[in-house]
Amino acid sequence: MKGVILAGGLGTRLLPMTRVTNKHLLPVYDRPMIYFPLQQMVAAGLTEILLVTGGNSAGDFLRLLGNGKEFGLKHLHYTYQEGEGGIAEALGLAEHFADGGPLCVILGDNLFQEPLAPYVQAYRDHLSREGRGAMILLKEVEDAHRFGVVELQDGRLVRIVEKPSRPPSNLAVTGCYFYDGEVFEIIRGLRPSERGELEITDVNNAYIARGTMTYRVLQGWWTDAGTVPSLFRAAQLVAQDRQNPILNPGGR
Ligand code: DAU
Repeated sequence: MKGVILAGGLGTRLLPMTRVTNKHLLPVYDRPMIYFPLQQMVAAGLTEILLVTGGNSAGDFLRLLGNGKEFGLKHLHYTYQEGEGGIAEALGLAEHFADGGPLCVILGDNLFQEPLAPYVQAYRDHLSREGRGAMILLKEVEDAHRFGVVELQDGRLVRIVEKPSRPPSNLAVTGCYFYDGEVFEIIRGLRPSERGELEITDVNNAYIARGTMTYRVLQGWWTDAGTVPSLFRAAQLVAQDRQNPILNPGGR
């Protein structure tokens, strides 16, 4: 399985901090935000990783990460998203890299307390059983209206609603997704949403409509870091969890 980290977009919810730099280069406690999804992928055993960047200071990713040697990688792949066409548009840029194979996708502003390796394995098992399909990771939250939220019926996924004013559950869709090669055909069929973006929620709903989407619920904490309060919270969570090798590999 290959990994894709999505770190495009303009980060407007963090202005003025993102006026001259990229959101994913901002610090979360003791290291740049982009380190967290990279550390997760490497810890999960993924070695073929594509970073989709965009917006301001895209060249700084190369200066910061190079070929990923600091993370134990031999090589890191990069591509560039022009503008802010949405998460699904950014993922569409990974088609050539994926080459028809399965992907683990992580949003560049998402932090997970627990290792994602067991979920990588669960998706591999799912694919060898079913031959196709996708998997999302959910987390119980108190502020579901800020996220994609699932509606479940007898434990079965019915649909996902993006940032609902009345959330159908308290289970948010986190920014870690597993897809098979069908994802690119789905992305090609998408229309921009009201906010002018190709939505990852529409991709996930397409899998649900095909009956090929499965899910797991996370136990550890999860947060995004794309708003001022969530960036602050992310730093506090990382600071409180210094011994966690997923957040602090090498125990700096
Ligand atoms: O954090 C999880 C949430 O992420 C999900 O619950 C939502 O369903 C999903 O839509 C997304 O919501 P946000 O509105 O918070 O996403 P945001 O626009 O902040 O983008 C999150 C990351 O995705 C960002 O850090 C980089 C990447 N991205 C985003 C856009 C809009 C791109 O690479 N390109 C883009 O054009």
